[in-house]
Amino acid sequence: EQVAHLAAAIRDADSVVALTGAGVSTASGIPDFRSDSGIWNRFDPEDFHYRRFCNDPEDFWKDRVSLHETMFGDGIEPNSAHDALRELSKNGHLHALVTQNTDGLHDTTATSAELIELHGNAHRVVCDSCGHKTDAAPIRERVESGERPPRCGDCDGIFKPDVVLFGEQLEKSDLQRARKRSRNADVFLAIGSSLSVEPAASLPRIAERNDATTAVVNLDETPFSALADFDIRGDVTDVLPTLCEEVAD
Ligand code: OAD
Ligand code: ZN
Repeated sequence: EQVAHLAAAIRDADSVVALTGAGVSTASGIPDFRSDSGIWNRFDPEDFHYRRFCNDPEDFWKDRVSLHETMFGDGIEPNSAHDALRELSKNGHLHALVTQNTDGLHDTTATSAELIELHGNAHRVVCDSCGHKTDAAPIRERVESGERPPRCGDCDGIFKPDVVLFGEQLEKSDLQRARKRSRNADVFLAIGSSLSVEPAASLPRIAERNDATTAVVNLDETPFSALADFDIRGDVTDVLPTLCEEVAD
């Protein structure tokens, strides 16, 4: 019933913004970060600090390859939650998709929605000196065959995963676009995120202060849940396809 009311708000809105987190990808086989089986219960976040990348890029890269293998097994594909968001975008009911995920599973090509990957994309690396970006898979292979740290062919700088590490700032323009979209949203959906990491966690508050209709779709309670107009506790792979159908009706 909450979902039906939310669907009606989405149908009436000129601007719908979604913020997603690791919970949208767990059904694709990617662990989230803060659940009992989450990444930060198996790895030490300190090992993935920008400071460590700078001071000890050899060991950083060794751990990074093992983190990557744990997070992204073989045959990872979008699930019904990604599909529902894509469908909403295609039908003109989702205008901006802001994600904290680095898995690259959101796809808004051939839709009019703007995709903002706030924390970067783990399938790319970026040269720490010249900014050259390239595909991460061959670089990880070079790391595994002993090249540590992997170096840029253009300038001999060191490659870094093209993700926001702890201790690093988000890309300024990405954050600005995300904030602007949040300010102008009529409906703001926070989906599959614990909303515990800034500055992404503030986006629903920005939307709420600007009178958006807000919703949280998540298994667990979040710090924003009590403030949201709709607090939908459920699995994203159930809730989002239902929501998408209701919007289409
Ligand atoms: P978290 O692991 O903090 O939160 C994921 C949330 O999704 C939890 O509240 C789960 O209850 C919920 N969840 C899991 N599976 C779900 C499902 N199938 N349906 C509904 N809810 C589900 O992950 P994020 O909030 O994304 O930063 O974490 C934010 C950032 O912290 C990440 O982007 C990462 C991490 O450090 C960087 O990589 C920079
Ligand atoms: Zn370079």
